[in-house]
Amino acid sequence: MQKPNERLAGQTAIVTGSSSGIGAAVALGIARDGANLLINYHSDKKSAEDIAHKINTDGTCGEAIVMKCDVSKEDEVQAMFKKTIDHFGTVDICVPNAGMQKDAAFHEMSLKDWQMVIDVNLTGQFLCAREAIREFKRRGMREVSKSLGKIIHMSSVHQIIPWAGHANYAASKGAITMLMETICQEYGPEKVRCNSIAPGAIKTDINKEAWSTQEALDELNKLIPYKRIGVPDDIGSVAAWLASDESEYINGTTIYVDGGMTCYPGFTNNG
Ligand code: BGC
Repeated sequence: MQKPNERLAGQTAIVTGSSSGIGAAVALGIARDGANLLINYHSDKKSAEDIAHKINTDGTCGEAIVMKCDVSKEDEVQAMFKKTIDHFGTVDICVPNAGMQKDAAFHEMSLKDWQMVIDVNLTGQFLCAREAIREFKRRGMREVSKSLGKIIHMSSVHQIIPWAGHANYAASKGAITMLMETICQEYGPEKVRCNSIAPGAIKTDINKEAWSTQEALDELNKLIPYKRIGVPDDIGSVAAWLASDESEYINGTTIYVDGGMTCYPGFTNNG
């Protein structure tokens, strides 16, 4: 791991869905800057333990603990916050990142798959953000940060780019914008910072089909002005900075980390 800059020293973060992919990179990025971490997983205990081990044996990072939790279940989210607070004293940074896709043509989409994606991607972020705000208010300001607490919602370029065949996913991410902005408006006066990161195509298991062959990758690159697929660390480094006081005045904003995907490159020679 690279040398930490300690800008998050003494703080504690919960990153949901941090056993792999973007969540793991966010957890590592935040830990590298000195924060303690709750590594949350839904089904892959071994990967979550590996990430925690990496953090705990690094010597320069904060401490990591692991907990299973289905973010769509209120009692499980509350238990995750309780464990973190019991162990580390409080929570300073919350990154509701856990998310999933259950893709289908709209006319064939089952209510079950619609509901599951909304439950995890949207209700899960509501439950985590709500517990975070409750904890920030309970403990009051601390010297470790200029803000009472930081929430970083993991959204997607599909909060703004419609996505045929993925109506449940796009709807969940579109709603994250309003959730985040409303929390910002409501709790900004108490010095809570609430923002979103909207990743583009990041090389993880969720979009394997889009990068596992050269043909697929060539097609994907047509959507990315910067002409490379993203990697999880592209998100991890932005999340760590966004959690720190270096970005203190950023509030109620979505940061697109997408190589320019939201600049609609399909229009470069068309339209
Ligand atoms: C999706 C990926 C997709 C990317 C760009 C993400 O939010 O989860 O599957 O590759 O958006 O379309």
